[in-house]
This record gives sequence, C-alpha cells and structure tokens, in this order.
Amino acid sequence: MIKGFIFDLDGVITDTAELHFLAWKKLADDMGWKFDREVNEKLRGVSRMDSIHIIREHNNAQISEEELVELATLKNDIYVESLDQMSPKDYLPGAQELLNLLRKEGFLVALGSASKNSSKVLEQLDAKKYFDIIGDGNSVSKSKPAPDVFLFGAEKLGLEPEECVVYEDAEAGIDAAKAGGFHSVGIGPKDRVGHADIRFETMKEATLFAVKSHFDTLF
Ligand code: BG6
Ligand code: MG
Repeated sequence: MIKGFIFDLDGVITDTAELHFLAWKKLADDMGWKFDREVNEKLRGVSRMDSIHIIREHNNAQISEEELVELATLKNDIYVESLDQMSPKDYLPGAQELLNLLRKEGFLVALGSASKNSSKVLEQLDAKKYFDIIGDGNSVSKSKPAPDVFLFGAEKLGLEPEECVVYEDAEAGIDAAKAGGFHSVGIGPKDRVGHADIRFETMKEATLFAVKSHFDTLF
C-alpha cells in the first residue's frame, strides 16, 4: 500500500533551473568559460560539485580540485542571493494544490533533493509545513543516481520504499528512485524521464487522482 510521497525540489515543487543557470552563467562569464542552456540541462538533479566538474570538462579547463570548490562556492553565493526574490507565488502550477491535498488525505510526505539550499528555498515558498521530513544534499553523501536521499526520507517516515511514490524531473532522479525500489513519477519530456513508472509533461497533470488511477491497486 502506498502511504507516502517523496518529492524532489528543483523542477518539481519550484523551477529554480533558471536561477541556477544565471548563477553558473555569471561564474562562467567571469572565468571566460563557455556555458549555455544545453550544458545547463546536464546539471538537472546533479549535485553542485558534480555540476562544476561537468562545466570544467566542457571547457577542458586545467584547474585544481581546491579551486573548483572555491568556484562552486562563488556560484552558490550568487544563487543563494537570487533566492531572495522567490516567494509563495513561485510554486510550479499544480505543486501546492497537490501538497495541500496530500496533507488533507493524511499521506506522509518527505523532501528528497540534491540541493544543500533546500531549507532556504522551502522558507521562501513557505512550504515547510507540507513536509514531515526534509532529505537534501546535507542528509546524505552519495547523490543521485544513488538512491540514498530517497532511502533516507523513507526510513525517517518509517516506510518501506515500495510504500512510497517519488516525484522527479531529472533522469538521475528517476534512476535513483528505481535503484531504491520506489514507485516513480517522472515530470518532463520522454527523453529525460521516460523510464519512470508513469510520466507527465508538467506538475499540473501529475495530480493525486492521476497517480492513484495509475497505481490503482496500490492505494
Ligand atoms: C538539484 C538541482 O536539485 O540541486 C541541481 O537540480 C543543483 O541543478 C543541485 O546543482 C544542487 O543544488 P545546490 O543548491 O546545493 O547547489
Ligand atoms: Mg529536480
């Protein structure tokens, strides 16, 4: 029986991809590096340090690990400052309605994000009230596609993976959900999350009704 839901944050609850893009772009411009939206897509769901490694490789830049950590910190400062403009108006359409309904129907709900900034993002959205457990980049050391952050959430909720549905917009996130034995809902195009148990183009379509209809006998 499905008793809980675990949500990715960036790209599922709110769209921070643009803010991440602008922060990486500013860093890349300052460094004289190439960085465009196509490379940015490769960073979806990927941890901060893994992201800077992808950008370094894209530019074939010779740079030490220590400097990479410093640069990732600089990017993060830009990103975190840009979060100040985020407000409860910035839920992706359908996300807040779903979170409200899950609360009303008594499901357990966890966050399962790669971000180390989830606390700030949830505060800006006034979304902490929707989550029983916060699992994020500070909770585990192995990031997606490893299932650790979802396993952390399920364990803290007191549930088995097969009792939880994971919502994810990243390829690595669906890989992580499947590796952990969770039911998965993919948000986005087929070439990104087509391997999820069920896929919707946007959060607006990924309603509790639609998910219940798909997993039918599990509810
Ligand atoms: C993920 C985003 O949720 O979090 C990635 O999709 C981001 O783009 C990652 O790199 C880490 O986020 P943060 O906030 O810790 O730099
Ligand atoms: Mg995401």
